[in-house]
Amino acid sequence: MKKKSIGQYVVQDVYFHEAKKLGFRARSAFKLIEIQDTFGIIQPNMKVLDIASAPGSFLQVIAKIVGPEGLVLGVDLQKIKSLGRPNVKLLQWDIFDAPKIAEFCAANGVEQFDLVTSDIAPNTTGMKGVDQYRSIELNIEILKFADIWLKKGGNIVLKVFVGEDIQELISPVKLRYTTLQRIKPKACRDRSFEEYFVCLGKK
Ligand SMILES: C[S@@+](CC[C@H](N)C(=O)[O-])C[C@H]1O[C@@H](n2cnc3c(N)ncnc32)[C@H](O)[C@@H]1O
Repeated sequence: MKKKSIGQYVVQDVYFHEAKKLGFRARSAFKLIEIQDTFGIIQPNMKVLDIASAPGSFLQVIAKIVGPEGLVLGVDLQKIKSLGRPNVKLLQWDIFDAPKIAEFCAANGVEQFDLVTSDIAPNTTGMKGVDQYRSIELNIEILKFADIWLKKGGNIVLKVFVGEDIQELISPVKLRYTTLQRIKPKACRDRSFEEYFVCLGKK
């Protein structure tokens, strides 16, 4: 993941420096940590799929909590550098290539996951409305993916660019999950329209 920049200025706020200090690959780690502190969704021994993992800071957080008896699979279009942990398996591929993902899960002995986390982001155009709508479309595809790969009662975390069409995502979430919790972690930049949807209890 490239550093976000405003003109020539690279954003290096407190989370950027804290991530470096603690050995996290990206500031996003703090977003997942806040989600975990609030909802406690990651538990020891779980099988977790992390969608859009590169460079791997969500993976670092998840792998530590699920522990050596748990398993985390990470998929991203970009290469994810090895975490050097036997409980983390990585694939550089498109999450929407169903046969390839099925092959990857089968190779790691997974039929369904206890938890899916997605930090997927569209290639941003700079046009707010377009980026927000693309984010909704991606998340609807992720929901359909989880219809197959997430176990009943399981939870999913979605990164969402919130805009005026957000109801188009809320409705399919509510159809599939008993509870929808929305959170904007402190590590999200104030001006960003990014939020996380924590969808609990797959029906
Ligand atoms: C915000 S970054 C993820 C940061 C990551 N969660 C972390 O903590 O390090 C978004 C990622 O989405 C990935 N991505 C976008 N579309 C994808 C797709 N169709 N399949 C897999 N990864 C995708 C991008 O390659 C990019 O690395």
